[in-house]
Amino acid sequence: MSFAVAIDGPAAAGKGTISRAVAAHFGFAHLDTGLLYRAVGAKVLEGAEAVAAAEALGAEDLIVGYLRTAEVAQMASKVAVIPEVRAALVEFQRDFARRDGGAVLDGRDIGTVICPDAEVKIFVTASAEVRAKRRFLELQAAGSAMTPEEVMADVLARDARDRDRATAPMKPAQGALILDTSEMTIDEAVAAAIKAIEARC
Ligand code: DC
Repeated sequence: MSFAVAIDGPAAAGKGTISRAVAAHFGFAHLDTGLLYRAVGAKVLEGAEAVAAAEALGAEDLIVGYLRTAEVAQMASKVAVIPEVRAALVEFQRDFARRDGGAVLDGRDIGTVICPDAEVKIFVTASAEVRAKRRFLELQAAGSAMTPEEVMADVLARDARDRDRATAPMKPAQGALILDTSEMTIDEAVAAAIKAIEARC
């Protein structure tokens, strides 16, 4: 039986951490859909054309070490504006959502476009300041030399592009639980998500 959990929200709001914890708790499969766009972005940085890269994307493209860099994140957000890139990635995500045994997908348009009939929809958010600080600490731990100001500018630019694009903009799906993690610990945020899912099980 399938059971889809759609978790959307802006960069560094905590949706990845929450999605992984929720998937482990319920024994569901997890897909970080941002990785698909990051993989396309990385190919473009290597010189490929965006739509062709999206159409040819394979599992091996998702394990490249530098997909988590700020440079790839910005390019991911840029290629994500292109409707043909998004269209090339839809079927894979929908198939994943409806696999047997339950699935958690996190991204920007899961509850609105990819899986509008998901059993549970959650929009995870946090203030830009909190998100920029979290992302700064993550990047610093990974060896990045970016300043807090640069990380904040990066987060704001990506927010604006992801939110204001014409195709599948980032926004809460109708009926989504809004989870603002600005003042929450990871454990509190995960517990709130688990509670929302248990209510639908
Ligand atoms: O979740 P992330 O930060 O890894 O996503 C990188 C970029 O990919 C994000 O800025 C916008 C795009 N994206 C998208 O448009 N739709 C998704 N479902 C997931 C990511």
